[in-house]
Amino acid sequence: MGFHAAITGWGKYLPQRVLTNKELERMVDTTEEWIMTRTGIRERRIVGDDETASTMAVEAGKKALEVAGLSPSSLDLIIVATNSPDRITPASSFLVQHAIGAKKAAAFDVGAGCSGFIHALAIAYQFISSGIYSNILVVGSEAVTRIINWEDRGTCVLFGDGAGAVVVQANEHATDMLSFVLGSDGSGGDLLYIPHPCGKPSSAPQDGRYYVFMEGREVFKFAVTVMPKASRQAVEAAGLQISDIDLFIPHQANDRIIQAAARSLGIPSEKIFVNVDRYGNLSAASPVVALCEAVEEGRIKEGDLVVLVAFGAGLSWAAVVLRWQPRA
Ligand code: UT7
Repeated sequence: MGFHAAITGWGKYLPQRVLTNKELERMVDTTEEWIMTRTGIRERRIVGDDETASTMAVEAGKKALEVAGLSPSSLDLIIVATNSPDRITPASSFLVQHAIGAKKAAAFDVGAGCSGFIHALAIAYQFISSGIYSNILVVGSEAVTRIINWEDRGTCVLFGDGAGAVVVQANEHATDMLSFVLGSDGSGGDLLYIPHPCGKPSSAPQDGRYYVFMEGREVFKFAVTVMPKASRQAVEAAGLQISDIDLFIPHQANDRIIQAAARSLGIPSEKIFVNVDRYGNLSAASPVVALCEAVEEGRIKEGDLVVLVAFGAGLSWAAVVLRWQPRA
């Protein structure tokens, strides 16, 4: 039995620039109506020229530290989950470490597609329950629209930019991370990927631009199966029933995927958190931005049981059951 771990702070940052479905109508062969009915997305945010995954992570991280009442110099570790880092190396977490003045913190990034934030949270939990660290900043941040092909209507209407962060601290009284499920199936690696200049020269795009590539229909089929499955496994591992859960926070990729997962789990709509209409798919930032908003909107009360569940490139999936008790 190790140390307990609790989420004590949270914060989010969304860029100011809003891109509406109407504007997309003028950019590619699509319609406002198609995007709304097939995805549930109305608008998304787009990074400004002076913003990156690390600058947004800094803004979200500062807010999370403020809520936790923790100074950056007390942080032992910073983990950033991202698929759109500022540079190949150093990892974005080092840029965050320097920008917030977390002088004694270690830093690394986590890449697990859109499931990256929940993987990062699991790592933070391990470091705390083992007694190695006491104060960890866990961030999901994406500037993924920088690598979107604005001529590909199958991807460009879906994604948006933003960041969310939580502070995880050692706690004497109670653990609020009750179970984790993490999974991978690399055989689906070609269904959703971002090529890279370090790949085989033969895999380099002819025009030299490295864009998000996705077989949407195949990823959709995977998503509607894996989200309910991972949620059930995590709830069972926590010794609970689906009906015990107060709020489900699914990865915000497509409202049709969210509603299909809810139906499969038999969850009423008031127990599902949705913000995909305003931000689109925030990739690794999606579950943590949604968690922050759910708390800010009063959808989560002290003592509530919450499931975060995600899927994405890898193929990957992840779920966590939380008992929300930041002031325990
Ligand atoms: O974070 C992980 C991420 N990714 C996802 O979760 C994405 C999962 N997939 C999806 O959300 C959906 O598959 C999409 C939203 C990408 C596509 O919706 P769909 O209902 O699966 O459409 P589809 O791919 O089956 O395409 C139906 C039609 C096609 O036309 P034809 O072949 O029937 O003539 C597409 O070319 O819709 C067309 N289409 C569009 N039409 C207007 C595809 N994208 C668009 C568009 N506007 N933006």
